Amino acid sequence: MSKPRVVLAYSGGLDTSVAIEWMKEHKGVDVVACAVDVGQGVDDLDEIKQRALDCGAVEAVVVDARDEFAEQFVAPALKANAMYMNKYPLVSALSRPLIVKHLVRVARETGAVGVAHGCTGKGNDQVRFEVGTMCLAPELDNYAPIREWGLSRDAAIDYGIERNIPIPVTSKESPYSIDENAWGRTVECGILEDPWAAPPEDAFERTVAIADAPDEPEEVIIAFENGLPVSLDGKQLPLAELIAEIDRRAGAHGVGRIDMLEDRLVGIKSRELYECPGAIALITAHRELEDLCLEQELAEHKRTEEGRYAQLIYNGLWWGPLKKAIDAFMEEANRYVNGEIRLQLFKGHATVTGRRSETSGLYNYDLATYDADDQFDQSLAEGFVKLWGLPLKTWAARFRDQDQEL
Ligand code: ARG
Repeated sequence: MSKPRVVLAYSGGLDTSVAIEWMKEHKGVDVVACAVDVGQGVDDLDEIKQRALDCGAVEAVVVDARDEFAEQFVAPALKANAMYMNKYPLVSALSRPLIVKHLVRVARETGAVGVAHGCTGKGNDQVRFEVGTMCLAPELDNYAPIREWGLSRDAAIDYGIERNIPIPVTSKESPYSIDENAWGRTVECGILEDPWAAPPEDAFERTVAIADAPDEPEEVIIAFENGLPVSLDGKQLPLAELIAEIDRRAGAHGVGRIDMLEDRLVGIKSRELYECPGAIALITAHRELEDLCLEQELAEHKRTEEGRYAQLIYNGLWWGPLKKAIDAFMEEANRYVNGEIRLQLFKGHATVTGRRSETSGLYNYDLATYDADDQFDQSLAEGFVKLWGLPLKTWAARFRDQDQEL
């Protein structure tokens, strides 16, 4: 009789490669490997598939989810300008729900009893994987071989050698733990665990150092429709391609390096580096266009929802009702976000130097100008200020009556 199957989120790296054999040995299951391309710029997907089979998977599935990732996971985050702790554009937190979706699909297609991930017990990704599965497919069990095994890097290599697993040997062994997709690159561990240690240059791949950035600034015009970028310098591009292109251009100017101390859901403060040139450029541009197109009250409220939204995605609650409800709000607010932003990319900065919107801009020259053609009726201001200040004036008078100092 064949063994029950479990679908493993397979990256092609050392941990998930040895996890295949470990699950067979310790869990009595057969492993179906599932590798999802979310724009991490991986090696050949067919090669990863073969690697999984060589490492003992009974079946291996690869999914090109680059467009889906851009359109269904990055797009809502951009509409919400989502940045955890106001700094981190949620790179990994956005890809996990999509990976879960495909794990669940493959599990159902292959009659698997569970899904597995290669996360440790110390991070957020385990939460995102498992809560996602609990929501989408409560009938499936969650397996966490690396967390259960408590594997160190050396132990993983030894285990692989002992059992003749053709463990992937990368030519350039990274001293860091990396995750990557179209929205950015995350870098942890190694020397970075000392929060006082400056980020070494070898931690970065998608951005140049400011010292090496071109001495000439570069301009790019980004057009948005309903809150999403649709063209760069007048050239229409599908979202995934547009993100890749702006990422490359902004990265070449050193835009998007983030060095932060992050509050993980599991209670740990951790030092993290991110490179998110495209995300930072697009969020900067999108926010600016909102400042032009959103009515004051809406804009102000949107900022409060944005923080909450980023937090819940970070905390693995992507599939929950609050996420859905805030999405509906963001959709409505982004109806007004149409127009163009001119960004200057220069020495690590993406700076807005121009904004315009033919259909949705609320900037009114006649009201704003100090020139002769000013249409703003200044005489109305006198009464307005009196009424605006009335509550304070009333309170202050009372207070003074009692000889208290303001
Ligand atoms: N700290 C970030 C987050 O929780 C990045 C996680 C990267 N994941 C990884 N397995 N290296 O979203």
